[in-house]
Amino acid sequence: MALTVRPATRADLPALAHLIVELYQSELPGVLTGPVEKQAELLRFTLEANGDKALYHRYVLCDDYGAIIGTGMIEFPGDERFDRAPDGTVAAAVRTLGALRATRLLGAAVRALFGVYRHSDPQSALIHSVVVTARERGRGAGAVLMDHLEHTIRSHRHARARLQVLAWNTAAQRFYARRGYVEIWRSSGWRAMLSWPSVVMEKALDSVEATPPSYPTLESHLFWNDSVP
Ligand SMILES: CC(C)(COP(=O)(O)OP(=O)(O)OC[C@H]1O[C@@H](n2cnc3c(N)ncnc32)[C@H](O)[C@@H]1OP(=O)(O)O)[C@@H](O)C(=O)NCCC(=O)NCCS
Repeated sequence: MALTVRPATRADLPALAHLIVELYQSELPGVLTGPVEKQAELLRFTLEANGDKALYHRYVLCDDYGAIIGTGMIEFPGDERFDRAPDGTVAAAVRTLGALRATRLLGAAVRALFGVYRHSDPQSALIHSVVVTARERGRGAGAVLMDHLEHTIRSHRHARARLQVLAWNTAAQRFYARRGYVEIWRSSGWRAMLSWPSVVMEKALDSVEATPPSYPTLESHLFWNDSVP
């Protein structure tokens, strides 16, 4: 299977919403509940409400037929953060999932706030929102996606990649460790009690390449400015 990675576009938002549903199911099972289409509707709302930020340095992994099977995002130092709960999320959650499920989700979101890793190292970029659709896992797709994200970070002349992963997601930690990531931080004390316990891992990227990956056939479809650092 020939897999390709390209920047996400606005047209990808429905597929991205479904992938993020899968990310929730893997990382925080039981937190986002209700009919899958409704979950995806809510996540699509949060993506759309973020505007350009939802697509900034977000990439999609595609199979031979161009179908999207995975995604991942990079946050460079100084980038505006993607907002997981933009204005209107509470109302959208109640509308799509109902009051009870929305309350459970918002409780989890508040808990997550205590554990957010504040990225401050100017030499490293943060990889996040990495997910491969369940039926394609364990066959090397994630490795292709990570290769691309790391290459992009190197080409932006950053020396290290970092990522935050939930402490109980040991399968993902193994995946990252095999790629050379090492644990540099683990939540403890009050932070571990109040938030979802998590681990930050880092990988030194060997060399800085001069040219960023180019996407000549896609450039015209992008609605954000790819030249912003
Ligand atoms: C982690 C993930 C992106 C890796 O993608 P992938 O396509 O499965 O990765 P690869 O095929 O290149 O590598 C497989 C390795 O990934 C790890 N892995 C993690 N979750 C896995 C899963 N559900 N199924 C298969 N492998 C998984 C395993 O360590 C596996 O190594 P192994 O061969 O020793 O078992 C993918 O499994 C996934 O989307 N998991 C759910 C979401 C998630 O946890 N994201 C990380 C958030 S920080």
